[in-house]
Amino acid sequence: MKLFLDTANIDEIREGAELGIVTGVTTNPSLAAKEGIGGRDGYRSAVQEIADIIDGPISVEVVSPDAEGMIAEGRDIAEWIPNPWVKIPSTTEGFKAISVLARDGIQINQTLCFSVNQAILGAQAGSTVVSPFVGRLDDIGQEGMDLVEDIVAIYRQYQIPTMVMAASIRHVLHCTQAAKAGADISTVPYPVLKQMVHHPLTDAGLARFLQDWEKAGGA
Ligand code: G3P
Repeated sequence: MKLFLDTANIDEIREGAELGIVTGVTTNPSLAAKEGIGGRDGYRSAVQEIADIIDGPISVEVVSPDAEGMIAEGRDIAEWIPNPWVKIPSTTEGFKAISVLARDGIQINQTLCFSVNQAILGAQAGSTVVSPFVGRLDDIGQEGMDLVEDIVAIYRQYQIPTMVMAASIRHVLHCTQAAKAGADISTVPYPVLKQMVHHPLTDAGLARFLQDWEKAGGA
């Protein structure tokens, strides 16, 4: 399972890149707004800065409500950076846009996926990757990870090439569960990525090794 960072914060992306394990970034209008990034030009500059740091797919979301607008935006975004994944919502207008953009050869991240049926439709339309939103389903009392499991199982059963990206990841257990469910990618907020590194026994073990080394004479 690959790890992407779910953020538009440049410092977090730089730090994630230094770890050497982040192979892509996902953004959305809320994440951009949180960083004070506004307007099309502002979003484009931020995305270009991210693409200078991360040599992998960067997901960039459209904001038009209709297919025509999404298609125009998607074609524009496709010119911004070398490896864009255009994020299109799982709506009627979204599926229309996905099928047109996918035929153009543009990579699509089908976002806001909350059901197996939406994932089936997206695969037919030509989504490169589908993003089930795990945390938001948990929020409404539905087991979000079941959706990831079901989509992975169905895609495998029919050898559907669309990838599955666990999104709306809220904590480290989600990452473990997504990997067990067979997700191709998990996109994680930076604090979750940092938590994935730590284990108290690693810290205690390292302290003990260094202590013993010093006792034996040190370097
Ligand atoms: O990847 C989707 C993500 O940005 C949504 O996360 O925590 O707002 O549900 P959240």
